[in-house]
Amino acid sequence: MAKEPMRVLVTGAAGQIGYALVPMIARGIMLGADQPVILHMLDIPPAAEALNGVRMELVDAAFPLLKGVVATTDVVEACTGVNVAVMVGGFPRKEGMERKDVMSKNVSIYKAQASALEAHAAPNCKVLVVANPANTNALILKEFAPSIPEKNVTCLTRLDHNRALGQISERLNVQVSDVKNAVIWGNHSSTQYPDVNHATVKTSSGEKPVRELVADDAWLNGEFITTVQQRGAAIIKARKFSSALSAASSACDHIRDWVLGTPEGTFVSMGVYSDGSYGVPAGLIYSFPVTCSGGEWKIVQGMMLLIFQFLVPCLFVHHLWLICHGQLDGVVSSASFLLIPPFTHMRELGQWASGISFYCILQYNVPTYSAKIPEFKFSKLCDVLSCHCRPPDR
Ligand SMILES: NC(=O)c1ccc[n+]([C@@H]2O[C@H](COP(=O)([O-])OP(=O)(O)OC[C@H]3O[C@@H](n4cnc5c(N)ncnc54)[C@H](O)[C@@H]3O)[C@@H](O)[C@H]2O)c1
Repeated sequence: MAKEPMRVLVTGAAGQIGYALVPMIARGIMLGADQPVILHMLDIPPAAEALNGVRMELVDAAFPLLKGVVATTDVVEACTGVNVAVMVGGFPRKEGMERKDVMSKNVSIYKAQASALEAHAAPNCKVLVVANPANTNALILKEFAPSIPEKNVTCLTRLDHNRALGQISERLNVQVSDVKNAVIWGNHSSTQYPDVNHATVKTSSGEKPVRELVADDAWLNGEFITTVQQRGAAIIKARKFSSALSAASSACDHIRDWVLGTPEGTFVSMGVYSDGSYGVPAGLIYSFPVTCSGGEWKIVQGMMLLIFQFLVPCLFVHHLWLICHGQLDGVVSSASFLLIPPFTHMRELGQWASGISFYCILQYNVPTYSAKIPEFKFSKLCDVLSCHCRPPDR
């Protein structure tokens, strides 16, 4: 028996990502080749004519799975009955702009759309926030839609995840479909940490660790990370517009895996509500490795190696506080994401820690440190860091 159509909302549908995304949804790339869809497209009145142009093209493309199109500038009409909401609408980042620069412009947009989704979307509607700053917009949406379950509000870091897989595939000259299990930790911004310590490549002699095959730690710890972190800016520089094709495709990957499940033995990166895993404060929207099954994501636990020091959670909390108090401009300073170097003695760790302003420890590298430093204990590490770190600047 044919499936009932699912209603998929795309906000900012007349924009660049929207234009790339809606045909992918209508072709079944997001929800499956046997899943009919009804597209709800929202944009603002100045873009109404362009939105109508997109609607006409959808009709002209005669997509067999597309059972209806709602193209509107009315947020309530757009949100009514939707099962999936992809929040793309917003002010785009232009060349030379940081994501935080566009944040204040997006706050009022997300308040209004959150209320409409809460009141009019289908029960259990899954929300994916794409518009930047994606983590913070998702948090704002959740704040203003308290009855939407935490688990249903996510943000897109799958593009960064896919970029990491793409870089590895180019470097090793292997098919990208044979590379898996990269992780994007943190924020969809230049402070994210692309991690390939658990990533593998399918070879004729079985799965091999990426680190072993690349055999170049300097590249993996340096150029690889900065390339992934700054890929969005490189694309803006080249195209004069932000990445649209790859963002749309990654949004489809995010929803497809969430709804239909991740393949056995594979995890992906999603910006999700932290439950306190890996020491990340609960309630922040943060990118973790997840597996999905039965329409639910689950954070992959117990990953080992590395202890992170970073300012990102601190900045999130401040972003939210500043938004609520209308004091955004000029306050958010740069964040950093450092790896604790491979110390061989607790004393060296103390010296290093004295230059740090805020830390959050992911209980992650303990086995390695325990093996290398005889007197190492996790609680002792916490003590050393607490003694030596300066308090947060704000
Ligand atoms: N998370 C990611 O990986 C990722 C990647 C690329 C881009 N982005 C972000 O996605 C967003 C969209 O990018 P784009 O290139 O499509 O931008 P765009 O400017 O081409 O399109 C944005 C669209 O949003 C519409 N819009 C503005 N305010 C709206 C509102 N209140 N309601 C509904 N629609 C509204 C605009 O009219 C426009 O059509 C940007 O914020 C961009 O930074 C995120």
